[in-house]
Amino acid sequence: MPRSSFWHAFANMESISRCEPLVLERGEGVTVWDTSGRRYLDAVAGLWNCNVGHGRQEIADAARDQLGKLASFSTFGDYSNGPSEELAARLTALAPMPDASVFLTSGGSDSVDTAIKMVRRYWSALGQPERRTVVSRESAYHGMHFGGTGLAGIEPNRAGYGDLVPDTARIPWDSADALEKTIESLGAQNVAAFICEPVLGAGGILLLPEGYLREVARICRASGVLLVLDEVITGFGQIGDWFAAHRFGVEPDLVLCAKGLTSGYLPMGAVLSLCQPDQVLAIMRV
Ligand SMILES: Cc1ncc(COP(=O)(O)O)c(C=O)c1O
Repeated sequence: MPRSSFWHAFANMESISRCEPLVLERGEGVTVWDTSGRRYLDAVAGLWNCNVGHGRQEIADAARDQLGKLASFSTFGDYSNGPSEELAARLTALAPMPDASVFLTSGGSDSVDTAIKMVRRYWSALGQPERRTVVSRESAYHGMHFGGTGLAGIEPNRAGYGDLVPDTARIPWDSADALEKTIESLGAQNVAAFICEPVLGAGGILLLPEGYLREVARICRASGVLLVLDEVITGFGQIGDWFAAHRFGVEPDLVLCAKGLTSGYLPMGAVLSLCQPDQVLAIMRV
């Protein structure tokens, strides 16, 4: 078998190179077919991201129409474009907080790294630059970019990269009490944000204890720590509401999304922010 040049993510390439890969060719709704015509039920929705199913012609048509008009352009400074404005308005209407600002990204990992920078820059702009620590949880997965790897609670995902992001702390994934104690011991004046997945995804697909999200939201409010919900998986209907924040009745400061945002038809993510652009985004542009 000739050696493939294709480097798979999350794979032991040594063993992969010794087997025939499963090559998928097309999909329709919840069904995908491989190159030999064998049919499979896509029970994992691609990579937990194909929320509206495969083969949706209207999405392909919309992408083709747009690519034929204008593929991309800078949105620095006062540049804008219709699709970005339209999408931002739609996301603001769906967001689990009032009047959210929308920062578009290239995917979930990019949303996570953007959020880490946003929360630190936010506190710095408010004259509290020592509020830098981002608290995450054991077993957490926040993508594989540098910032998200630095917050990871799945140890093998952190191994071998040397020093990651400074000023982070990890707590047990299911204890709101641990959050309160950690904020207390670090000093709230040093803590920028707490980030969590509303359902623990890559770390085991585990539901949080009853009332956990409301309790951590209360602790964050009481200590001024920003609450960042990583809804990259749970967003866009995956757990029966637009966002887990709706379902569990919490109002986060930032919501991170990707995956279901485009259903995997394009790589794209977003940070929905309760903080207004004049507080954060405008500051980030200077
Ligand atoms: C909770 C969570 N955050 C972030 C990410 C990273 O998203 P992406 O793969 O789009 O970079 C993932 C991916 O599975 C995820 O599950």
